[in-house]
Amino acid sequence: MLENDSLRQPFARRAIRANLEESHCECPQVISSNTPTQTRSLADRLRAETRPEHNAIETALDLPQSIQDAGDYTRLLSGFHGFYLPLEQALLRLDWEGTGIDLNERLKAPLIRTDLEACGADADSVPQCPTLPPCSSLAEGFGCLYVMEGATLGGAMIHRELSTRFEDWLSGKDHYYQCYGENRGSMWRQFRQAVDGFGEGCSSADQDRVIHSARATFRELQRWLER
Ligand code: HEM
Repeated sequence: MLENDSLRQPFARRAIRANLEESHCECPQVISSNTPTQTRSLADRLRAETRPEHNAIETALDLPQSIQDAGDYTRLLSGFHGFYLPLEQALLRLDWEGTGIDLNERLKAPLIRTDLEACGADADSVPQCPTLPPCSSLAEGFGCLYVMEGATLGGAMIHRELSTRFEDWLSGKDHYYQCYGENRGSMWRQFRQAVDGFGEGCSSADQDRVIHSARATFRELQRWLER
């Protein structure tokens, strides 16, 4: 959930959002939707201009309510693995040197693989998404990475609710949802700084490519998970 619909958010979501906004206080994360596009940082543009796609995927997945049992949880992890693995492999082919991003420390597919195996599933036989969003330049790569990194923010809240529901069963199966642990806030801030640094040094066409790719990543991920 993003701005202006806080009254419809369940308590837990409002609480995590308030925490995140507090932790972003040194970088002005909370922006007015009236801020002109050209004066927004690239990270702020991403947040504002992908809001419809975020709202759509959040509504479509209906997490964490849609996870009622171990089968639901394993299916969701399989879906993420089938999307993140090929996309991360494509992103690893880009040259991130000097961008402030160490992609290897941000990979999610290895965490999901561990969780799938703990759930008794074979990660190697999980189908992989054949249609990836645009990811052949650094600008496009930043757009894809934005979606995967941002998902860790909502993931923390989903993890909290699943922990209550599944109790001990979840232990050892939640590396993805516990991604970054107590460093989640600082990893997100570093990511935003890297995006803004990239945005300051690139053309406006490349900035638009970042946004375009982020929106496409949301849409492809939703289409893949809903298939
Ligand atoms: C696969 C599905 C999802 C993806 C890819 C995704 C992606 C993102 C992204 C990119 C951001 C960063 C926004 C920013 O620039 O600040 C974000 C933030 C956030 N997301 Fe999600 N999200 C997903 C599902 C969810 C769900 C299901 C929830 C809640 C149940 C959720 C709750 C949040 C929250 C609380 C934030 C913090 C930002 C804020 O609203 O202030 N997300 N998500």
